[in-house]
Amino acid sequence: MKILVTGGAGYIGSHTVIELQNAGHEVVVVDNLSYSSEVALQRVAEITGKEVTLYQVDIRDRAGLNRVMDKHSFDCCIHFAGLKAVGESVSLPWEYYDNNITGTLVLLDVMRKYGCKNIIFSSSATVYGDPAVIPITEECPKGQCTNPYGHTKSMLEQIMMDIQKADPAWNVVLLRYFNPIGAHQSGAIGEDPNGIPNNLMPYITQVAVGKLKELGVFGDDYDTPDGTGVRDYIHVVDLAIGHVKALAAIERKCGVAVYNLGTGKGYSVLDVVHAFEEATGVRIPYTIRPRRAGDIAVCYSDPSKAEKELGWKARFDLVDMCRDAWRWQKNNPNGFR
Ligand code: NAD
Ligand code: UD1
Repeated sequence: MKILVTGGAGYIGSHTVIELQNAGHEVVVVDNLSYSSEVALQRVAEITGKEVTLYQVDIRDRAGLNRVMDKHSFDCCIHFAGLKAVGESVSLPWEYYDNNITGTLVLLDVMRKYGCKNIIFSSSATVYGDPAVIPITEECPKGQCTNPYGHTKSMLEQIMMDIQKADPAWNVVLLRYFNPIGAHQSGAIGEDPNGIPNNLMPYITQVAVGKLKELGVFGDDYDTPDGTGVRDYIHVVDLAIGHVKALAAIERKCGVAVYNLGTGKGYSVLDVVHAFEEATGVRIPYTIRPRRAGDIAVCYSDPSKAEKELGWKARFDLVDMCRDAWRWQKNNPNGFR
């Protein structure tokens, strides 16, 4: 298939481009490079031996998207482009709604104008809020999000479902990611956050490489085995392969399909620290801090629907994720800069 990948220079997008190319698909990337570097795509090309066509275009730029669509005819769009920092979204709500919602509305309008009505969307387990059931199935009702970032994901899911309902020619696959970590086994691409990382794994790797002094563990009084928060960490390469597998749902004209992409296993913050130490031999000093506002105690998936319908299952374990995250960080202490 010929696939438009928005946000393809970013963390998950760049890993997905590799798996798409390896599976024989033709890929065109649209990215404004606001939170990424084109070096990531140069490295992807070195890994796969295939060039990646990149258009530096903002998805809110209708004329820019028209120019891309004039040149290429796409079978499907995999839509990663968006802003994703939870804390930043609280202080910059307008920017988050404009980038994520306006951007996606423009993208969908241009797609329909050019007759491409197949989309795979990066959603998040954040749409479940504080989940009503654990492990979380796709039937679990959506919950109350605590921040504008989460609202954009939840609203965009609704917008795409409404568009598909009004025009059944659309096929919409909503992929709800749990916690992607790790990096490509080459160590050439990986997660490259701006400034001090908000998420656990990049924080740990920056402590390991000596850029940060110690990890703060946000709360040890949750109702979990060791008191720290439990999450479903998934290797970014498994997640990327999930997108390739999701093309099968598009091909069978699924209408709307929703899938959790997780491993189904929950690990605590201290489990991750210990797995990292085991995988790398590097000690991670930490102190217990107060809970972080908006955090929940436990979040992990029931991923069986994706296995049954897409034939997809995560293969890598937590030690693999830690080892690969570390290889990337150690080889690239300053990311792509
Ligand atoms: P990322 O920031 O590395 O990648 C996002 C990419 O989108 C970047 O390359 C950025 O430059 C680009 N972009 C942003 N706004 C754009 C715009 N208006 N026009 C064109 N390009 C734009 O993030 P990621 O971790 O790779 O996440 C990809 C997607 O998955 C996002 O939609 C994110 O919300 C979603 N997601 C991520 C996680 C996670 O933990 N990383 C979890 C759930 C969902
Ligand atoms: C967060 C977002 C979520 C988003 C996801 C990916 C919140 C409330 N949720 O998920 O919406 O989709 O990132 O971007 O921000 N932790 C520490 N110390 C740290 C960092 C994290 O103890 O320095 C703990 C957290 O309390 C949590 C776990 O590690 O228990 C994972 O945190 P994180 O990586 O930020 O992911 P989530 O909070 O699950």
